[in-house]
Amino acid sequence: MDGRDLVRSVRVVRAVGPAQGLRSVRTAWRRRRADARALPRRVSERARVPGAARDAESLPGGGLIHFARSSLRVRVAAGGAVFCGWDGAEPEPSYALAGPCPEADARAVLEPDTEGGWRIVSERVMVTVSRHGAVEVRTPGGAVLRRELPPRWWDRTDDRADDRADDSAHDGSGSPAGGHAEGREPGGGLGSRWVQRSEVAADARFFGLGGRAHGPRLRDGAYRLWNTDPGGAFEPGDDPLSLTMPVQIVVADAGTHLVFHDNSWDGRVALREGAEGAGSGHDRPGTCEVRMDGGPLRYWVLAGTPSRVLLGWTALTGAPALPPRWALGYQHARWGFGDEAEVRRVVAGYRERELPLSAVHLDIDHFDGKRVFTVDRERFPDLPGLAGELRAEGVRLVSIVDPAVKAEPGQENPTVYDGGAAADAFVRDARGREVRGVVWPGESVFPDFTDARVRKWWGGLYAERLAQGFSGVWHDMNEPVSFAPFGESTLPRSARHALEGRGGDHREAHNVYGLAMARAGYEGLCELRPDERPFLFSRSGWAGLQRYGGTWSGDVATGWPGLRASLSLVLGMGLCGVPYSGPDVGGFSAVPSRELYLRWFQLGAYLPLFRTHSAIWAGRREPWEYGPEVLAHARTALRERERLLPYFGTLGQLARLTGAPYVRPVWWSQPRDRALRDCEDAFLLGDALLVAPVMEEGATRRAVRLPRGRWYDTATGRAYDGPGQVLVDAPLSRIPVLARAGSVLPVAGADGGMELEVWAPAAGRGGGGVVVPDAGDGWQRPSVERFTARLVDGRVVVERRDGGAVGYRVRVRGVEGG
Ligand code: GLC
Repeated sequence: MDGRDLVRSVRVVRAVGPAQGLRSVRTAWRRRRADARALPRRVSERARVPGAARDAESLPGGGLIHFARSSLRVRVAAGGAVFCGWDGAEPEPSYALAGPCPEADARAVLEPDTEGGWRIVSERVMVTVSRHGAVEVRTPGGAVLRRELPPRWWDRTDDRADDRADDSAHDGSGSPAGGHAEGREPGGGLGSRWVQRSEVAADARFFGLGGRAHGPRLRDGAYRLWNTDPGGAFEPGDDPLSLTMPVQIVVADAGTHLVFHDNSWDGRVALREGAEGAGSGHDRPGTCEVRMDGGPLRYWVLAGTPSRVLLGWTALTGAPALPPRWALGYQHARWGFGDEAEVRRVVAGYRERELPLSAVHLDIDHFDGKRVFTVDRERFPDLPGLAGELRAEGVRLVSIVDPAVKAEPGQENPTVYDGGAAADAFVRDARGREVRGVVWPGESVFPDFTDARVRKWWGGLYAERLAQGFSGVWHDMNEPVSFAPFGESTLPRSARHALEGRGGDHREAHNVYGLAMARAGYEGLCELRPDERPFLFSRSGWAGLQRYGGTWSGDVATGWPGLRASLSLVLGMGLCGVPYSGPDVGGFSAVPSRELYLRWFQLGAYLPLFRTHSAIWAGRREPWEYGPEVLAHARTALRERERLLPYFGTLGQLARLTGAPYVRPVWWSQPRDRALRDCEDAFLLGDALLVAPVMEEGATRRAVRLPRGRWYDTATGRAYDGPGQVLVDAPLSRIPVLARAGSVLPVAGADGGMELEVWAPAAGRGGGGVVVPDAGDGWQRPSVERFTARLVDGRVVVERRDGGAVGYRVRVRGVEGG
């Protein structure tokens, strides 16, 4: 046990007490033993590269190229996404894809290239494959977006228990036609490790890989793909966190592309930005090396503008779920409300101070003994009554839901455990025994969400939450976590999972555990309450999480670096297709200074999930706890959020329709502007607003990097012309928010009705905006209204694109006196 283990032991004991702490030591040992027994040893691994190409056959959307020791299927899908699968890997089965793999693009055909290779030309990209298995993805104009060197595998030649290990040691004699060497499974032999190295342009920048604390631009370094609870508090240096994804977004002058390695195993992505050889003409390309512990080598590439790429990505992995209206309002969470009276007191505090409040989140302390799907009836004797009371004043209740179920049969009444055991719902080890871990309630078992039957059972349990009056759920601890003083704080890698009937172990299931739990919850809620859209957000997840809900930062450390990390996470998740997220405002781990709390609050007001929350030991987060000045400024932020709710609603609908996140990097519509690519301290909220949070202690002015075009400081009305950097005031009372000239956005008017806020277009330039009016919390198809704005004789004229009446009050800003 080293120093870090000691710190973790203290943490575990603090979390669950000495008795369970001891138990966690036992489970950690058990875990280690189980893995040693059941997992194959790495013995005699043979490296393999594809070798020379032999021949190729045309198939829909591209073709199959046979190499001496592997094969590559290239398939362009309608819509332009390119699939590459080595060693017989196919697009399905996949946890990421929203439905059946999209049709092949019939126009994309495999043809011989010069130099003995092949190429596939499609509308959006050209793919070339060399005789040795290097793959280039180019723009239709021929600029290289990505060059992949031939991959390398290490085929295990272990003779031990793993039923899927390839023990017919590769003899180097080549692969038979059909794509995979004898004895190796389609998909590369799931036990094979592999590495793929790629090059991108010297000027390229990397983004994505899920939620990373030290982005959004991913600098040189290795990023692990293994969902991990950082254990109490994380800062920008901590990696990985709860929600990793093998999704990279690469932005370069030549174009933007997204690469998704559809493989849920543990892995690492090593990134190195390139360098341009000033004057010498020798550029050093950027490099990316994906190294996986197993699973298929298959990936998708999508190219185009950032908005095209996100459109394609969410077409592939699913449209983002639309949160109900109220989930766009401000929410207050607390670990340790204590009892019903305290919830009432806090809600009354908001009401009395005229601070809008949309929801209150109850944490594990409202459970009976921290057991999921129970209520501590002494402290919360009438939760449905409380929920009804709050609902009457417009405040919803949201419940935490953890996956771990206390391993405890009922004495008189059946417990959740009894139900799960009867349904054979819990993860088992290689010998068939339930895997036990330690989480909040003590010794616990873990539902196997990779089994449709188990998802159905679990989804039904949400009936209890609905009956208690909850309107939404907050999934936590689903990396999944099992406290451990040493080793990994999760399930044994040898633990067995159904994996939709294919069977496999935790090495493959770990990263999709939270995603599959989200599916269970979402589908359960849809069935139980079919008329309302579910509200669900989850700490862990994987590619495709957006189909079921959003996410939040998890336990971000209180401190200025944590504040920066919060924005990095939201931007990164948005680029990976999960638009709805936000941090614990104020930070999770400690009591923030007044200034830090306020600056965090002001940032939160412009993020989709706007929620205050903290650890039970980290003080309170109600705005009035931070003195009258903070309260006054927090009120301003809350009111502005209320005013912008129709805009947030529109952005949610647009995210659903197009995949474009609410919160976008400033380079979103000008990815060729290199200074914007490197700007990480501001963001675009939709098309219309540029938000520049204050993330430095003591700052009352800040530099803001502007994209091209005219921008108005919304507080002063002053106009600035981009591109360039300007200094703007950022007094404690507000953070800078700039509006794009010509934009039209829906806001709540003073009487609560919707009106259009229009920012005067610059002379000679038009403008406009999209409005999606609120259609309630059900499943109604939204109507999309488009407006144009132009200057006519110095006056701003707003029209509906379809020629109809504008239908809303219009408030013009950015003109003299506006
Ligand atoms: C985890 C969550 C945190 C929650 C706590 C207790 O640390 O990330 O938000 O308050 O568990 O449930």
